[in-house]
Amino acid sequence: MKKVIYNRYGSFDDLQMAEVDIPGIQSDEFLIKVKAVAINPLDWKKLEGQLKIITGKKFPKGIAFDFSGIIENAGNNTTNFKTGDEVFGTLDAMKGEALAEYIVVKTESICKKPKNVSFETAAAILTGGTTAIFLLNKAKIKAGDEVLINGASGGVGMVALQVAKLKGAKVATVASGKGLDFIHKWHPDRTIDYKKDKVTNKPEKYDAIFELAGSLPFSQAKNLLKPNGIYVSTLPNPVDMIKAFFNNLFSAKKNIIIQAHPNQKIFNEISNWMSQNIVEMPVAKTFRIDEFKEAYHFAKKGGAIGKVVFTIP
Ligand SMILES: NC(=O)c1ccc[n+]([C@@H]2O[C@H](COP(=O)([O-])OP(=O)(O)OC[C@H]3O[C@@H](n4cnc5c(N)ncnc54)[C@H](OP(=O)(O)O)[C@@H]3O)[C@@H](O)[C@H]2O)c1
Repeated sequence: MKKVIYNRYGSFDDLQMAEVDIPGIQSDEFLIKVKAVAINPLDWKKLEGQLKIITGKKFPKGIAFDFSGIIENAGNNTTNFKTGDEVFGTLDAMKGEALAEYIVVKTESICKKPKNVSFETAAAILTGGTTAIFLLNKAKIKAGDEVLINGASGGVGMVALQVAKLKGAKVATVASGKGLDFIHKWHPDRTIDYKKDKVTNKPEKYDAIFELAGSLPFSQAKNLLKPNGIYVSTLPNPVDMIKAFFNNLFSAKKNIIIQAHPNQKIFNEISNWMSQNIVEMPVAKTFRIDEFKEAYHFAKKGGAIGKVVFTIP
């Protein structure tokens, strides 16, 4: 079978197509015939070696972790799913190697794909969706809360906006150009184009600020928070985590850095919303598996509306 791998940390030029055996399964595992795989920024952060403390020195490594597909084979001790089920899921983000024709997963990594949702859309929503739910839960968002999403037109921001509005929050969004225009369909209460304006120049104060873009550090964001407001970032790094720890000892304005851990409850929540067309995730462009370099360059360039997804026949 085909699988995209890399043998050293580097750039998209280090990605290559390998021909490998279809993996075997243990009694508690499923073999999935992969139908679609979505690209996430974490894919190239790992490839570039930005997370090598966690990802280690063992090669070859595979790439990508959000997928959808059909169960080809189910181990004897598996539960909840059977051969032929259409599923979507996410592998361990630090080890993921979903960009392949077949992968092996356990029950906790998958969820049934709603019939009305394409394989591409199902693969596209998972990391953005689970991370958005983590953010909203962490900030305990409720009706009437005022929320700022910095990076609102990306995979995480789009779902955070839709679900925050669903909960009755008032949402201000920061993004730019076509993406900012696109997310108007989910009725943000305020929009700021970061290429024309600075959110830090605005007088509005927020109950919660979600930092998804790396451009609004807590040192600046705290001036935009209400007295008991909370700042939640999806961009962990050791220095910020230490600063956050000390800030949270002394300040009523909280600085939280999250690492989302997908679970079945969150998968089912997302699946339920998608089956009822309550939450959506646009697919910007699809590529074949052998177009991996082109696809990653396209995704990293930015400016696309929605996720970049591989379709695997
Ligand atoms: N910790 C976790 O568990 C976790 C989970 C998922 C993702 N993440 C991380 O969270 C980040 C967001 O993920 P994503 O998938 O949503 O990324 P994405 O799809 O690349 O979206 C990035 C967003 O940031 C906006 N942006 C870029 N520069 C900006 C600036 N200077 N000011 C304000 N907004 C700006 C982009 O808008 P334009 O397109 O208009 O530039 C876009 O809306 C990534 O770094 C990702 O690795 C972390």
